[in-house]
Amino acid sequence: MKIEIKRDNKTQLFDITTKVTTLLSALYYIKEHIDSSLTFGSGCRSGVCGACAVIVNGKEVLACSTPVNDKDKIEPLRYHKVQRDLLVDRCSNITKSLKQTNAHLQSYKPTPLDSKDEELNQIQSDCILCSSCYSACPVFAVNGDFAGPYALTRVYRYAIDKRESKKGTLISSVQQNGVWDCTLCGECTLVCPQGIDPKSDILQLRSLSIGEGYSDPTFVSMDFGGGFDSNWQ
Ligand code: SF4
Ligand code: SF4
Ligand code: FES
Repeated sequence: MKIEIKRDNKTQLFDITTKVTTLLSALYYIKEHIDSSLTFGSGCRSGVCGACAVIVNGKEVLACSTPVNDKDKIEPLRYHKVQRDLLVDRCSNITKSLKQTNAHLQSYKPTPLDSKDEELNQIQSDCILCSSCYSACPVFAVNGDFAGPYALTRVYRYAIDKRESKKGTLISSVQQNGVWDCTLCGECTLVCPQGIDPKSDILQLRSLSIGEGYSDPTFVSMDFGGGFDSNWQ
């Protein structure tokens, strides 16, 4: 089996002559038997740490839970600084996005939660910050300051938490480079290994924003031309 790996903007072909199951095991095989300098992220090897996210044939996946196939093309995640080969700096982007959006509980209000509330809070808490959704999001190609799907999904998680007493602060932090900048393409939802649906969470955040008195800035600034016609009935 032959696989291609993008390294320093060049593509290198590797021949794997033993039986490997996952893409991560193929990368380890190359490192141990062909080229020890090959660099990639890895941690839990069981789909829970997010460290091994890469792009295979154009789609973001976790290398440890993805089967490897002949002629696969492997690349590092998009919109991240490449440290070496397939290893990217996810931490800088994560810190920037989560800080920018205040994606945490603002002010705790003691409130009993029932099992349905806990279930609801759990969905976005399952995010492993693998950055697959960030890499798949086309908005970053034109706006590097966009908050991005995992940050917005996390804001939504806290905005609907009954223990949050300052929901307005959270909502105000996603008005610029946030909910209204998303194109609702759904690419983030398609690649999430945790089954999280950032597109739908962003739509919900838009509704909450409208409830707080905000509106879509593109719509507000739209020029319909002609002004108001007083004769119009
Ligand atoms: S739905 Fe929005 S956040 Fe998700 S990938 Fe598309 S533009 Fe990005
Ligand atoms: S929302 Fe999904 S794809 Fe995005 S960082 Fe979290 S786990 Fe990864
Ligand atoms: S090594 Fe942890 S998710 Fe793949």
